[in-house]
Amino acid sequence: MTQKAESWGTRMGLILAMAGNAVGLGNFLRFPVQAVQNGGGAFIIPYLISFLLMGIPLLFIEWSTGRYGGKFGNHSTPYIFDSMTKGRAWKYIGVFGIFTNIAVASYYCYIESWTMSYVYHSLIGTFEGMSQSQVAGFFNTYVDVASSSTGIPYESVVFYIVVLVLNTFILSKGLGGIEKVAKIGMPLLILFGIVLAIRGLTLGTSGASDLFPSANAWDGLNFLWTPQFDSLSNPKVWLAAAGQIFFTLSVGMGTIHCYAAYIKPKDDIALNAASAGFMNEFVEVVLGGAIVIPIAAGYLGLDWVLENAGFGMAFQTMPYLFQQWGTILAVFAGLFWFGLLFFAGITSSLAMGTPWVSFMKDEFGWSNNKSAWSFGLITLIVGLPTVIFYQQGVFDEYDYWGGTVGLVTFALFETIMFSWIFGIDKGWREINLGADIKIPTIYKFIIKYITPLMLLFVFLGSIFTPQGNDWTGNFSSLFSGNGWNLDNASIIKQITHAGIKEKIAMTTDINLIAELEDKIFYANLARIILISLFAYIGFMVYFAFLKRSKEGRVTI
Ligand code: PHE
Repeated sequence: MTQKAESWGTRMGLILAMAGNAVGLGNFLRFPVQAVQNGGGAFIIPYLISFLLMGIPLLFIEWSTGRYGGKFGNHSTPYIFDSMTKGRAWKYIGVFGIFTNIAVASYYCYIESWTMSYVYHSLIGTFEGMSQSQVAGFFNTYVDVASSSTGIPYESVVFYIVVLVLNTFILSKGLGGIEKVAKIGMPLLILFGIVLAIRGLTLGTSGASDLFPSANAWDGLNFLWTPQFDSLSNPKVWLAAAGQIFFTLSVGMGTIHCYAAYIKPKDDIALNAASAGFMNEFVEVVLGGAIVIPIAAGYLGLDWVLENAGFGMAFQTMPYLFQQWGTILAVFAGLFWFGLLFFAGITSSLAMGTPWVSFMKDEFGWSNNKSAWSFGLITLIVGLPTVIFYQQGVFDEYDYWGGTVGLVTFALFETIMFSWIFGIDKGWREINLGADIKIPTIYKFIIKYITPLMLLFVFLGSIFTPQGNDWTGNFSSLFSGNGWNLDNASIIKQITHAGIKEKIAMTTDINLIAELEDKIFYANLARIILISLFAYIGFMVYFAFLKRSKEGRVTI
């Protein structure tokens, strides 16, 4: 097949695109919630250790794997893995590197579309004069698809489609388009973030009110930044910290491999990978930690934050708090906050489109344009159920299997492949080829032993999460012959909907039972869609294999 050696325009463009890939909604929406739910200062240490022992090694692995595959004209994980291993099986593991992206993109673009819509509503002053519960209610009606109380009938569907078309259009322009968006979006995002963070840091007690007299922004910051070492022995916090590291760095997805495959064979990856990774961490812990939590704690008090930490804070609470700054500032704050989220989102969702686009170009000779629009179409088909049945839980199901389980599984496999099958010696040479920094040699050891072991713990810990997350209790129960009791949050119990079924068994309220049964129905629907998507991509990889065989391009 003819391969135009497509590559990144400039080094700055590459780093910004990679940082844009990593810096996403996860940094501003997911991180604060995870931190609060896992004890603030208790979360930070496992989080930072996970960054150093899993995040950074996975970045090195994925960047070098990608650049290696690119040398052979392979830009998506199925055939990148194929070029690094013998036998036929690994390319099917590589399916994850396309599948997870489409699964995540389909709900991620939905959140992205909220941010776009909220920019619009901030600008036209929709939230002006609304009470806290009215602002929260606005969100609830917004995601209740058929309701037209926001002015535009089916508004959420309209904005979703607009966002998908925009993503697809940019993808159809190739790497140049992605680079351009990153060069505009990343600096603006950081600027908006700094403005809002300064506001969060300087708020102090000035936002306290009669209702929340002791509200203090500093309580939020102290909560986050007072380290608590006792959490180190709590596997639940470790699982959450590791999960956040994967999600925020975009590792275990296949996007980094794909971007890195467009790096010239001898160009640096070591310094680039570290720069993009640290840039993401700056945006996450410094900016991401200095906006929602302190501002919410500053007006509503830390107790309120601890009770209400959740995804809704960003959309249900922030627009109301901005109103406290006066009409004009509220418009700007809304524009900055939702604009920041929008740029964070789009530079990440573009990354999720590239593995499929590259796969179709590499294997079937499709044009960039055709590949991009086919991505848009597939994402629309997979994604519409998350929009229409958001409240029935399709969104959460995608997030769980795609955005959580998928990442850990893929990260574990790829690390084993890299260190033990491709071989750490060859791997280490790849990482250091053309390197502009000297990576501490200890990382060779870490990548070979520590990272895979930690990933294995995370993986097994998620499958067999013990009841009540009580590890010591369950181990002693196991050793005294009383067995291991699984928690409803464990992967095994999730598969059987054990949690929902328990709730059904415990109630006599027919309405609640009907609602819970609905949840099971829609979760199963989501699973059928996801499995079909995986199978479809698997077949495409197989067709590509047949095509390669016919053309005599098969490596064994
Ligand atoms: N890292 C992105 C975020 O923090 C999400 C993402 C995951 C993007 C995987 C691309 C690939 O939101």
